[in-house]
Amino acid sequence: KRLAVFASGNGSNFQSIADAIKDGVLNAEICLVVCDREDAYVLERARLENIRTFSFSAKKYASKVEFETEILGILRQLEVEFIILAGYMRLIGPTLLQAYSHRIVNIHPSLLPNFPGKDAIGQAFDARVEETGVTIHYVDDGMDTGPIIAQKTVPILAGDTKDILQIRIQETEHGMYPSVLQQLFQKK
Ligand code: GRF
Repeated sequence: KRLAVFASGNGSNFQSIADAIKDGVLNAEICLVVCDREDAYVLERARLENIRTFSFSAKKYASKVEFETEILGILRQLEVEFIILAGYMRLIGPTLLQAYSHRIVNIHPSLLPNFPGKDAIGQAFDARVEETGVTIHYVDDGMDTGPIIAQKTVPILAGDTKDILQIRIQETEHGMYPSVLQQLFQKK
């Protein structure tokens, strides 16, 4: 499958997908990285992998429709089949949702529907629950609300700090995202 990865920050999930492709365990190609920040580390990672990037500043556009229309033009030109969200900190608007219906996937660091939105790891940590986890789901017009594809539980252990929990969750994400995508692409 031909993928575009959307990210806003560090890009460790982008890296896990790129590595799985190089290792031959994920049968896909990342055609494009889309990033809404011009200084995000994910852009450097993409350059190191020789993957094309499109970075933009939302402030320079009149509306979401305008920048998503520009992105859609590039996705069509590159014949992208799936949009993979990996730490993209914006809601996807109707332009991309309609064009890629059931072909936009997100990873979220909690057991949805618990702790949607920002800082899900901190929310779970502060709530003193015994376990949290990772959810991979299709994207709809809500905030972390689309149909769930896969979930994995991550324990919160006595003595954990938020940082330790974050590392445990991210390790889970990095193992999980490529393998869930591989299963999904085999079905579609
Ligand atoms: C991940 O924890 C992901 O679940 C969330 O944002 C984080 C992105 O991390 N949506 P990275 O940029 O992939 O390192």
